[in-house]
Amino acid sequence: MSSTTRPPAPSSDDPRPAWWVGAVGYEVYVRSFADADGDGIGDLPGLRTRLEHLAELGVDVVWLTPITPSPQRDHGYDVADYLGVEPAYGDLDELTGLLEDAHALGLKVLMDLVPNHTSDQHAWFLDSRSSRGAEHRDFYVWRDPAPDGGPPNNWVSHFGGPAWTFDAATGQYYMHLFLPEQPDLNWAEPRVRAAFEDILTAWFERGVDGVRIDVAHSLVEDPAFRDNPLLTNVSLAAATSVFERFAHIHDLDQPGVVDIYRDWRRIADAYGAVLLGEVYVLDAAKLRRYVTDDALHAAFAFATIEASWDATDIRDQLRPFVETCEDRLAWPLSSHDAPHAATRFGGGELGARRSLAYLTLLCCLPGVPFLYQGDELGLGDGVLPPGVAEDPIALRLEDVPGRDPARTPMLWEPSQGFGFTTGTPWLPFGTNHDASHTVAAQTADPTSQLERTRALLHARRALPALHGRTSTTWLLEDGPVIAIERGEEVLVALHVGDGEGPATLVLPEHARLVVATDDRTVLIDGELTLPEDAAVIVELEAGTEVEGRL
Ligand code: GLC
Ligand code: MG
Repeated sequence: MSSTTRPPAPSSDDPRPAWWVGAVGYEVYVRSFADADGDGIGDLPGLRTRLEHLAELGVDVVWLTPITPSPQRDHGYDVADYLGVEPAYGDLDELTGLLEDAHALGLKVLMDLVPNHTSDQHAWFLDSRSSRGAEHRDFYVWRDPAPDGGPPNNWVSHFGGPAWTFDAATGQYYMHLFLPEQPDLNWAEPRVRAAFEDILTAWFERGVDGVRIDVAHSLVEDPAFRDNPLLTNVSLAAATSVFERFAHIHDLDQPGVVDIYRDWRRIADAYGAVLLGEVYVLDAAKLRRYVTDDALHAAFAFATIEASWDATDIRDQLRPFVETCEDRLAWPLSSHDAPHAATRFGGGELGARRSLAYLTLLCCLPGVPFLYQGDELGLGDGVLPPGVAEDPIALRLEDVPGRDPARTPMLWEPSQGFGFTTGTPWLPFGTNHDASHTVAAQTADPTSQLERTRALLHARRALPALHGRTSTTWLLEDGPVIAIERGEEVLVALHVGDGEGPATLVLPEHARLVVATDDRTVLIDGELTLPEDAAVIVELEAGTEVEGRL
């Protein structure tokens, strides 16, 4: 294993923890990562046995999908107790052990905080719905029916159907932007704010290094609960869900939401912890309001997942975020909510090659690149047999595969259960059952996706120009090659391909190849020949010691 130096500490006027700046992130979908007790469900003891894989890969920060107790209607994103551990995953001692193991390996751990909604089984909601005068009534959003007895307004759920469910016992509707089993909390209620400040403090006291904040743009609603306008330019066929037919000007990204994060930032700063928002706002200027020195440290830029395999599209989608948000970003390659990059970019070996090339680009953007489990193996989505759907999107909407295919279990070894479980996995592997996609098969093969990814992440770690706020210059305005210079020291080029074959770029004579995702890449006397669907990182100035060469 090549050992490379940790990123240098950021300058003293940068208020962020040094470990965040220059880090590489990795999302663990806990349920599908590693199962130690053979019940087919990934768990904390299983995860503990696999932490070394992440450390060796060159990951610095691990984000765990929710591990709190939950009826699992949305696989943990329906929280029944913010301070407990889901029994299928382990207990508090296991969590403590996990944090100790991770820290001993130099890994930081982010927990998933779900503040927009709880489970309908949370004690707050059980009390809230018990009577209009209940102690926790105002923890949730209750409204009277419209004059015709229908829902209070026209808001709809992300998962289909109205965003309101009538509760006959108390004669009012409660709001839920997701499932009826995920009632929205009322962030206009000061006791909700106080409760979450206590939850954050408790997690940080336990040694958690930060939080990924679920639907961080959703907490606050229009106080007048006005109707959202119906979009007229979306054809019914193009909208996969009723949610996409509306302009969400009154239910999402409302004024006041960032104030909540200002309060949280003071708590996080006292513990040296990081706040990373799942802010699904695709307008860079709007996103920028969330990521400031006194609010969120960073937000995911989902433009990476929206972009198609097209150089113009990638440039147009990513560039505004780079230019507006400095390095206050996290760049997801894939996630548990979307198809894997390898699938988005064509599937099979081609998709895997493109996924690695794209990751190379993301590794050179200012901010923190995030892999999703399996990305390092070139894994695409698993096609599942009919009748096994678990995701509420697949269960509630018609003719959509939902998010299950991106959540099939991790492939560790070429055995039955693939080293994920000795039992029956909670979700089948589907078409993801190829021995060549296992960690064991790819380890020590320098041409494998795993070893190339490892080399890339270690190379990034050793290049200070890629950490923090060094300048970012887009060199080519159009054409199939995206080329970016960082700090006048490092250049990344991604050839998205146009069917015309390898591209030639003329670089300074002493330019040195650090990473090439395709072995046919050539750099001689400053002339770079870059195949399609490939990327390179080049050092422009001699001098920096780089290990982990591809
Ligand atoms: C976020 C999560 C997603 C979940 C939703 C509701 O988008 O990433 O998995 O379904 O929030 O909590
Ligand atoms: Mg288990």
